[in-house]
Amino acid sequence: MTTTAPKPFRVGFIGAGGIAMTHMKYLKALPGVELVAAADVSDKNFTKVKADFGIERCYADFRELLAKEDTLDAVSVCTPNGLHAANTIAALEAGRHVIVEKPMATNAAECKAMNAAAAKAGKVLVCGFQWRFDPRTQALRKQAEAGVFGEVKYARVQALRRRGIPNWGVFGRKDLQGGGPMIDIGVHVTEMAHYAMGMPKPVAASGMCSTYLGDQPMTALCQWPNWDHKTYTVEDLAIGFVRFANGAVMVIESSFAAHIEKDVWNFQIMGTKAGATFDPPVVFTDHDGYQWNQTPAYVGKDDIFAVKMKHFVDVCRGERANDSSGEHGLMVQQILDGIYKSAETGREVAIT
Ligand SMILES: NC(=O)c1ccc[n+]([C@@H]2O[C@H](COP(=O)([O-])OP(=O)(O)OC[C@H]3O[C@@H](n4cnc5c(N)ncnc54)[C@H](O)[C@@H]3O)[C@@H](O)[C@H]2O)c1
Repeated sequence: MTTTAPKPFRVGFIGAGGIAMTHMKYLKALPGVELVAAADVSDKNFTKVKADFGIERCYADFRELLAKEDTLDAVSVCTPNGLHAANTIAALEAGRHVIVEKPMATNAAECKAMNAAAAKAGKVLVCGFQWRFDPRTQALRKQAEAGVFGEVKYARVQALRRRGIPNWGVFGRKDLQGGGPMIDIGVHVTEMAHYAMGMPKPVAASGMCSTYLGDQPMTALCQWPNWDHKTYTVEDLAIGFVRFANGAVMVIESSFAAHIEKDVWNFQIMGTKAGATFDPPVVFTDHDGYQWNQTPAYVGKDDIFAVKMKHFVDVCRGERANDSSGEHGLMVQQILDGIYKSAETGREVAIT
């Protein structure tokens, strides 16, 4: 029996920081994938990406990468959030498929422009969400699709750190990131809860944001000490309330610095026939005269980053449907956007 080698799939990177190297690691492990070039305004990682991942060419300007690297099939966008839209649109216009890290952008208008660019170019746009590929999320989504929950009425989303203000990168800079914990970590649990619910359309949001610690010098020992409090312009705590077109609602709690016992990374859904938690994955329901807590014996142990990167390559090769599309990314961004806008105005805002 002869096996044919997979067609080469050549990838370039815009941004060569922490998450780009995670993309590189998982992409390099896939058959037929070649890591070709990277662009970053800083050259601090160029030696490492050349040595560890065999990337031959590095550029200081992403436009030069797009102009010179004419064999690329795809580009991975791993820059700070505020650059995602410009980088993604330029790569799509250059005729490349794109995976863009989370959050898709800093606001919904940018996401709409990115989706329009993908449609115009006829290229794939994948949002770099990985938590929807967690076996627990997949198991709950399958329960929702099978009607186990009846109508999902409510989702509670929690991405809470007791003291986890990033002390690297630009995560405290609103101008470069678009926001703090809500857009940086709330986005992860929101995307997986929204996906598990069947992705209803968000129609309105209310929100509250508060900064009380990140813009101050450190007062208590913590795992990531001495963040840059002088440039910290994002929230420490954000709470959102979201309405969907099908009548369901979602509450999102997200914080880099919450006064709680310990960190929480979880979502809960409540429906007319059953509810569930993500961690641990349990379905709460009634049947035959009893209330049951149903725990799956085994849901699998996938490495969600490996699944995310393979999903991207498979979608680009036309081997599977896009399960993390720009349209999904837009809905998640509309949720985040609505919460931030409401927090500024003190009123519920419509999502259009
Ligand atoms: N999916 C996940 O779990 C996950 C985890 C961490 C970060 N991220 C996302 O990845 C993105 C990058 O985060 P990171 O942790 O890798 O940050 P990072 O600071 O380690 O890397 C960002 C890189 O972008 C470079 N950069 C800045 N401006 C640039 C420009 N104009 N052109 C080219 N490069 C430029 C920086 O020099 C830096 O090397 C963010 O959007 C973040 O939300 C996702």
